[in-house]
Amino acid sequence: MSEQAVKITVRPNGPFRVEGPISLVDVNGVEWDLTGKPAISLCRCGLSSKRPFCDGTHGREGWKCDASPVPAEPIALG
Ligand code: FES
Repeated sequence: MSEQAVKITVRPNGPFRVEGPISLVDVNGVEWDLTGKPAISLCRCGLSSKRPFCDGTHGREGWKCDASPVPAEPIALG
């Protein structure tokens, strides 16, 4: 079995781009057929009519959201 990492890229003002060997299932365990798709884009804005996939609505609606990590807060030591 190959150990290939899954890469998830948070696109600025857009979807999660998921690359790698993944299984996408609903709450009942029913799997989407991703045959032939080395990467998918998952909706992050909630506006897509093809959820969980992005359909580009985020761009047409001008949805905005940061896509960079927020530095962790320092932990106060007692
Ligand atoms: S992120 Fe693209 S439609 Fe939601």
